[in-house]
Amino acid sequence: MKLPHHLLAVACIGWPPAHALAADADQGRTLVIEARCEDCHSDRYGGGDGTQIYLRSDRRVNSLAQLAAQVSVCNAQLSTGWFPEDEAHVVAYLNRQYYKFR
Ligand code: HEC
Repeated sequence: MKLPHHLLAVACIGWPPAHALAADADQGRTLVIEARCEDCHSDRYGGGDGTQIYLRSDRRVNSLAQLAAQVSVCNAQLSTGWFPEDEAHVVAYLNRQYYKFR
């Protein structure tokens, strides 16, 4: 069956979605929880809730650009199917919560 054209037009009106226009830390938080990022971090860094990895004294990430790169690397180890804007949300969340780069 062919889709009537007017249905396609309706589906496209909301595009791009508002969340693609600006990184959204709250959405990033949800993504991190859903992807279970902290499970692996916790296994490797002394148990706990897995967030110490972001705050350890010898942490890897020292700039927003490095944060974005590390999120990409880690994300690639999961099959999250995230879009680039999803990574941006996660970067915004981790930065707001832990790194606080300007
Ligand atoms: C398979 C295990 C694993 C998974 C899953 C994983 N990570 Fe990581 N992550 C690591 C390891 C190991 C490091 C430390 C790398 C190092 O020290 O060289 C790390 C480091 C990081 C850091 C940098 C911490 C610092 O030192 O400042 C960030 C940010 C990060 N991960 C984000 C994420 C996010 C977001 C996800 C979920 C999409 C995720 N990780 C999923 C293993 C994982």
